[in-house]
Amino acid sequence: MFDTIRVETSTASDYDLHFGNDLRNELTDFAKIYTSDKAFILVDAFVLEHHREYFEAPLNEQFSELKIFEIPRGEQAKSIKVYKQAMNYLLENGVDRGTPVFAIGGGVTGDLAGFVAATALRGIPLVHIPTTLLAMVDSSIGGKTGVNHDTGKNLVGSFYQPEAVFADVKYLETLPQKEMVNGVSEILKYGMIHSPDIIDQIKELTKNEFNMDGQNWLDLIRQSAQIKVDIVSEDVLESGKRVFLNFGHTYGHVLEKLGNYNLYSHGQAVYAGMVGATYASNKLGSNIDLSNLLEFRSLYDFDLQDITHNPAELVELMKHDKKVKDSTLRLVLLKDLGMPYVYKVAETGFIEDSWQQTLKIFL
Ligand SMILES: NC(=O)c1ccc[n+]([C@@H]2O[C@H](COP(=O)([O-])OP(=O)(O)OC[C@H]3O[C@@H](n4cnc5c(N)ncnc54)[C@H](O)[C@@H]3O)[C@@H](O)[C@H]2O)c1
Repeated sequence: MFDTIRVETSTASDYDLHFGNDLRNELTDFAKIYTSDKAFILVDAFVLEHHREYFEAPLNEQFSELKIFEIPRGEQAKSIKVYKQAMNYLLENGVDRGTPVFAIGGGVTGDLAGFVAATALRGIPLVHIPTTLLAMVDSSIGGKTGVNHDTGKNLVGSFYQPEAVFADVKYLETLPQKEMVNGVSEILKYGMIHSPDIIDQIKELTKNEFNMDGQNWLDLIRQSAQIKVDIVSEDVLESGKRVFLNFGHTYGHVLEKLGNYNLYSHGQAVYAGMVGATYASNKLGSNIDLSNLLEFRSLYDFDLQDITHNPAELVELMKHDKKVKDSTLRLVLLKDLGMPYVYKVAETGFIEDSWQQTLKIFL
């Protein structure tokens, strides 16, 4: 099965997202657009070790020189330090304006390699090959690139669109369930903010035993990607609707930060964050059944016992999120399933309640 979605952008050329199980031929065909003999591959360390032949063979047909830079595993690699090492590697190995970068890995690799491609020689061609579920449904789409800074997550970066994205579920064969679950958080988010029937589809794929066959997730990956594409195409630079994609993330970013970016994964933090945001929505008058989220609790292996900050302190931390504008905290909340809105917070009592409730649920 092979499928594509066209992404139309106002700030860069349109590009295609390719979905399928084994996209090697499509990758070889696509690579013919480049005249360069050389290509850079910025690749996650695990993927390099386990899938090297799989990605090298189709690219070797087009490029006589593949320069491979290994990106260490984990969120800590999304740093200015590794960015600099990768940039040095490109500049010391003869990158020019026509040399493409293939970013092969999860969101960490995609964000970092994307930022390298965005900034090397003021921008060189970028192709994303996402290898985690999260990267396939979220981080490889929309053009956000960047690295973390000591003061917070994703604080150094830019918008930079790829020339193509290849979401090949063959890579998911080696992805552990814990990482699949991280992707489920973002898919659940699409269910909560856009298409509630997605929640039932996830239920089907996880109800007795977690379905680890990537082929079975392909349809949900495509639907999720389509939602993200629809939202970001309308709002490339995040001035309007795109902010809905942040549902649960203002809460989640606080947890990620308090966990020093290694105690909770992005997916875990977003899951807990969506519970908080749903609870807050209900406090303001909505009537959303929290079981839409909580019935997936057993998939997640984490708790919030290490969070010792009280709810008022957590709200203070939310105010430092980079999405805060004119010192007004804006939260994405839900009127109902599939009906997000932005709430400008004046009085924070209901958010404190939502944190209290969330900490209790995740004890
Ligand atoms: N740019 C965006 O719009 C956007 C959106 C959402 C998230 N993000 C970012 O994405 C990052 C999280 O992405 P992630 O969850 O993919 O994390 P990740 O890139 O750290 O990958 C998770 C783990 O999976 C391993 N891995 C990758 N592919 C594998 C495979 N095929 N088989 C086995 N293991 C594999 C990696 O080595 C790593 O240990 C965060 O930094 C987050 O901020 C960015």
